[in-house]
Amino acid sequence: MKILVTGGAGYIGSVTTDHLLQAGHEVVVLDNLSHGYREMVPQGAELVEGDIHDKALLREILGRGFEAVMHFAALIEAGESMADPIKYFDNNVVGSETLLAEIVRAKIKQFIFSSTAAVYQSKDEPLREADPLKPANVYGQTKLMIEEMLGWLNQTKGLRVGIFRYFNAAGASLLETPPKRGEAHIPETHIIPNILAVALGQQPEFKLYGNDYPTPDGSCIRDYIHIDDLAEAHVLGLEALKQNQFEFEVFNLGNGQGFSNQEVLAAAREVTGRDIAVTIQGRREGDAVRLVAASDKAKTVLGWTPKHPELKEIIASAWAWHQVKDKHETGKPE
Ligand SMILES: NC(=O)c1ccc[n+]([C@@H]2O[C@H](COP(=O)([O-])OP(=O)(O)OC[C@H]3O[C@@H](n4cnc5c(N)ncnc54)[C@H](O)[C@@H]3O)[C@@H](O)[C@H]2O)c1
Repeated sequence: MKILVTGGAGYIGSVTTDHLLQAGHEVVVLDNLSHGYREMVPQGAELVEGDIHDKALLREILGRGFEAVMHFAALIEAGESMADPIKYFDNNVVGSETLLAEIVRAKIKQFIFSSTAAVYQSKDEPLREADPLKPANVYGQTKLMIEEMLGWLNQTKGLRVGIFRYFNAAGASLLETPPKRGEAHIPETHIIPNILAVALGQQPEFKLYGNDYPTPDGSCIRDYIHIDDLAEAHVLGLEALKQNQFEFEVFNLGNGQGFSNQEVLAAAREVTGRDIAVTIQGRREGDAVRLVAASDKAKTVLGWTPKHPELKEIIASAWAWHQVKDKHETGKPE
C-alpha cells in the first residue's frame, strides 16, 4: 500500500516506517523536523519537509494518491503542555484538523492515529479501552479531542480509523544490529533515555519527579512497550483496515505490567552495570499516578503479540543504541 506517515522523522514514526518498508509498503514521510531528525527517516522512504498546518502542501502530497495515512506528528511533552497549552491545541488539534480536512477532501479512507494512555483517568487495575477518560494534562486532552474528531469523521464521512493508545514507547529498534533508531527527544522528558544519559556520564544525576505518590515505593507506575512491538501493531492494523476487519476501533498497546520509576532505575543499574546517581524532585505537573494497559483487544482483533515484553530487554536495546549514538556524536567510528 502507499502510505503517508506524518511525524516519520521522529522516534516512533521512523521505526514504524522501517517496519512498513520491510513489509513491502511504499512510504512518504511528512515531518517539519521540529523534533525529528532527517537521518532517522529510513532509506527507501521519501521525506517531505513540511508542516501538517500547510494546506497547500497537504493538497499537493495527498493528490499523489495514498491508500492510508498514519498520523504520528505531534508535540508530546505533558509538562510543556501545561505551561503552554495554546501551543499544544494549535499544533496537535488545529494541525490534525487541517490534515483531516485534506484527507476527507482527497477521499482517503484509512487512518491510524497515535493516541496515548494519557487520555485515561489513572487507575489501580490495568486500563481497558472503555475505561473512563480524564486526561491529567493538556497533551492528553489534545489527543482525546482528535480521537473525538475521528469518531465523527467515521460516522459522517466513512473514514475508517484505528486509534492506538500507546503506553510508554521504549527501547531501540532491533531491526539492525547495532540499533540505528532509538529514543532521542529534545528535550528528553522520558525516563529511560534520561537514566541512560547518567549512566553514560552525559548528565550528573537522574531527576526522579515525586516519591510521595500513592504507590508501593512512592514513584509513578508506567507500562513499557518495545518500539518494534509498537511498530508491528501498526503493520497489523493497516492489514486489518485493508481487509475491512473494522470501521472504527480503539486499541491499547502496552505489556500489561506496571513498573515504578524506582524499579526502572534499578533495572537500568543492572543492565548497564553502572551506578546511576539520583535526586528526588517534587512532583511534575500533569503526571498521572499509574497507567498500565490491558491490551487483550489488540491481541485478539489484530493478532498482535509483543515479542520483547521484558523491561530489562527493552532497556538493553536502548543502552546498545545510546552507546552507538554517543560514538556518532563524538565523531568516533562505530
Ligand atoms: N513516545 C511515547 O512514549 C508516546 C506515548 C504515547 C503516544 N505517543 C504519540 O506517538 C507519536 C510519536 O511520538 P514520538 O515519541 O515518536 O515523538 P517525536 O517527537 O519523536 O516525533 C514526533 C514527530 O512529529 C513531528 N512534528 C511535530 N509537529 C509537527 C507538525 N506540526 N508538522 C509536521 N511534523 C510535526 C516532529 O518533528 C517529530 O519528528 C506522537 O503523536 C505521540 O503523541 C508517544
